[in-house]
Order: sequence, then C-alpha cells, then structure tokens
Amino acid sequence: MQNPIAQKLQRCVESVRARIDFVPQIAVILGSGLGDYAEHIDVRQTLSYHDIEGFPVSTVPGHKGRFVFGFVGEVPVVLMQGRVHYYEGYAMPDVVLPTRLMGKLGAQVLFLTNAAGGVNPTFAAGDFMLLRDQIADFVPSPLIGPNVEELGPRFPDMSEIYEKKLGDILLREAEKLGIPLKQGTYLQFTGPNFETPSEVRMARLLGADAVGMSTACEAIAARHMGLRVCGISCISNLGAGMTEQELSDEDVKETAGRVAPQFRALVTAGIQAIAKEAL
Ligand code: HPA
Repeated sequence: MQNPIAQKLQRCVESVRARIDFVPQIAVILGSGLGDYAEHIDVRQTLSYHDIEGFPVSTVPGHKGRFVFGFVGEVPVVLMQGRVHYYEGYAMPDVVLPTRLMGKLGAQVLFLTNAAGGVNPTFAAGDFMLLRDQIADFVPSPLIGPNVEELGPRFPDMSEIYEKKLGDILLREAEKLGIPLKQGTYLQFTGPNFETPSEVRMARLLGADAVGMSTACEAIAARHMGLRVCGISCISNLGAGMTEQELSDEDVKETAGRVAPQFRALVTAGIQAIAKEAL
C-alpha cells in the first residue's frame, strides 16, 4: 500500500491541478508581516488553501492562506501567502505538505522567508539575515515515520541545506541594491511562546544567530525531495532579554512591515538572478 503521506500529497496535487495549470520554477514562502509581497508580482492565478482537499489551513491571524501563482519579471513563481506552523497543532508531515506540494507542482528552488528574533548581539531589529545553516533539533524532523520513497531517501544529506551558490547570489544582489545582508544560522523552536532570556542565551551558545518558529522543518522537507533551498530572515526584534522590551507579535509585524520595501526589492532581485544564473 502506498505511504499515507504520499497519498495525501498526491490528492492535493490533483486537487490543485484540477484548477491551476501554472508551472512555477521558484517557490517562495512569505513570512510574518511579509505577505504583501504577493501584491507586487504579476499575478496569474490564486488558490485558497480552503479549496485544496485535505490541506492544512493556517489559523494565525494575518496569515492569508493562499497560493499565488504569477511572474516576477519573467520568472514563474508560486508564493505561499500564509504558512502552516507546528505550534498550530498540525503534525509535522502536514506542516511541510505545502512545501512538498510546491515542489510537486514544478518548483526547483524554495526561497524561504521569515521574521525571526536576533540572538547574535551584532544584529539589530530591521536587519536581514541570509540563512547559511540551521539547527532544527528542538522540533521533530518532518521526515520521522515511514520514508516517503517517492520523494527522497531515508537518510538525506543536509551538509549544504541552504545552497551556497544561491546564498552567494543573494548576497551579491543585496550588495548591488545597497541593502545590508547579515549571514547566520537559524534555529527553530516550537513556539508559540517567545523564548525566555535563558533560552535565547542557550540558542546563542549553540551557535544560532536567529531564532524563529518555522522554516527549518520546511528546509528539511525540501532538501529531502531534492529542492534547492535558500532563505532570508527579517530580524524583527532582538531575542528576549537582549533589550528592555517585551516581545509581541504586533511589534514583529510592525518591524517586518517597516522594512518590507527593501525586502521586496531583495526577493525580486534574488529570484531573477537565481533564475538567470542557477536554473
Ligand atoms: N522568537 C521566535 N520567533 C520569532 C521572534 C523571536 O524573538 N521574532 C519573530 N519571530
């Protein structure tokens, strides 16, 4: 019998393909406060998560919950406007189902974005960080359970989970645009609570530069199925205990919204350069 995860994925693919004929090259997951990027591309088709059979629907306020298919310049993309988080209560295979689905629809590259807390003391709120590596050991691997052989191997290599070549392209594009781009390691906690100051210190000791509640599991699922992965965090705040300020989702969104114009420019230039030089 076919693996139930593969079956569910296949049903979702069929459900999308019954409505959408668009074939994307690059998939982009838009993080908190960054969802309005979708208003700045040449949109061809949209599909609400509600309309996909068996699809996990985001419960986070402000997350729209739809796929947007369209063009960035000449590059066919699919944007995920609103992601699914582990803290919402979904099992990990459901959390990464949308990622896998975008791969099945044709995307070769997954461009991850998120809002994250900076734990590197040289970072400031409003900075951008290129993801060079990650620590995902505080959440279950999305690959636990019978391996989905149709997607990838049981023991996939993660030596270069964020592809160096793609990262280097993003760094160069940021420099051309005059947008400072830090680099570092992203650590995923489960959330939904923000960290304590001790957890932030622990994350720093472990080698993290930024912490968040998404992304790392998506990167693992994407690499497993052979997608090429890159990512940028918007450092929306410094980690708990690093400043006097308490943390709130409103402040995270406010900061992400403030730097959204630069973010849009960086993602647009990055997508076009990746399509031109790396696909
Ligand atoms: N911690 C975890 N996730 C986050 C943060 C944070 O400080 N800021 C934005 N997302």
